[in-house]
Amino acid sequence: MKNKQVLLAARPRGAVEESHFRIVESDIPKAGEDEFVVRAHYLSLDPYMRGRMDDANSYAAKAEIGGVMVGTVAGEVIDSRHEKFKVGDFVETRTGWQEYGISNGGGVRKLDPDYVPLSAYLGAVGMPGVTAWIGLNEHGRPKAGETVVVSAASGAVGSAVGQLAKWKGCRAVGIAGGRSKCDYVVNDLGFDACVDYKAGTPDNLSAALASACPKGIDVYFDNVGGPILNAVLDHMNAFSRIALCGQISGYNDPDALTVRNFRSFLVNRIQLRGFICSDHMDLWRPALKELGELVHQGKLKYRESIAVGLDSAPRAFIGLLNGQNFGKQLVKLI
Ligand SMILES: NC(=O)c1ccc[n+]([C@@H]2O[C@H](COP(=O)([O-])OP(=O)(O)OC[C@H]3O[C@@H](n4cnc5c(N)ncnc54)[C@H](OP(=O)(O)O)[C@@H]3O)[C@@H](O)[C@H]2O)c1
Repeated sequence: MKNKQVLLAARPRGAVEESHFRIVESDIPKAGEDEFVVRAHYLSLDPYMRGRMDDANSYAAKAEIGGVMVGTVAGEVIDSRHEKFKVGDFVETRTGWQEYGISNGGGVRKLDPDYVPLSAYLGAVGMPGVTAWIGLNEHGRPKAGETVVVSAASGAVGSAVGQLAKWKGCRAVGIAGGRSKCDYVVNDLGFDACVDYKAGTPDNLSAALASACPKGIDVYFDNVGGPILNAVLDHMNAFSRIALCGQISGYNDPDALTVRNFRSFLVNRIQLRGFICSDHMDLWRPALKELGELVHQGKLKYRESIAVGLDSAPRAFIGLLNGQNFGKQLVKLI
């Protein structure tokens, strides 16, 4: 029995390729005093990992060349010398892109797979769900009757944003890439409308947004930046809010993030707030409680793209950065 790991082999310039990763085998770690070993069942793949591959200052430490790629897993304790974590416990922990990892319990969350499925703790009842909850409630601050627009609407964060907005009595409008994602957002998630940004030119996108948002846009939850942000800025209402959550359209090419209509911020007195979910650790507990109840009751819906086996992680991650995932991207390891 060996531990398979994905290492960062090289830092990408532009698009990520499989050659930027290296897959190796090592011995399965043993628990030292006050430590435990976790066997990962699911690895979460998240857009933020692209930033960790760069040699740049950010809000979190970069991944090191030759080190295990950073990431969160949901798994089971298989060996323990820690008084609070026992063999058989299910946990969420940041042991990275590997099958077995060691932890001292710091930042570890115990999970109950009988309450919601284990994988959901990496999505709707995990960091992406909390990001949606915080960004919408704290920074979007929508009121009933307002129009909330969210990009990457079929994804892990966006799908939760629109559903939460609907429960607040808002008009929820998604933006997503392709007809099938848009159909899912409206028919399965219950958004009022969804605009397919791949259907035409930027002018078409702006016109489609105008017809999907007849009263303009009060809250934009931005997951992508770039040309989609530019189209949205044409339709923001006076005193509207933008929760700036992500800029995935420029993660491989920051030059793609140019803002064309900056004047809209002045004319419409738009309040823009960039945020990172870890800025608000005090809100995680209430957010996770609410999200857990909603998923448990079958009210908050989500979808997953599941790649199988650690070898598939680099390809699945590259697909995530290109919109090939449909819902929360996971790698199933058992
Ligand atoms: N601030 C925070 O604390 C925080 C926390 C978590 C996530 N985020 C950010 O939130 C965003 C969504 O994350 P997620 O985990 O929910 O991922 P996701 O939406 O499940 O997957 C990423 C999606 O981004 C879209 N996309 C990819 N390339 C694009 C492009 N060039 N232009 C427009 N859309 C593109 C694709 O959807 P389409 O096919 O619909 O385009 C893709 O499916 C990311 O920007 C991420 O960095 C921020």
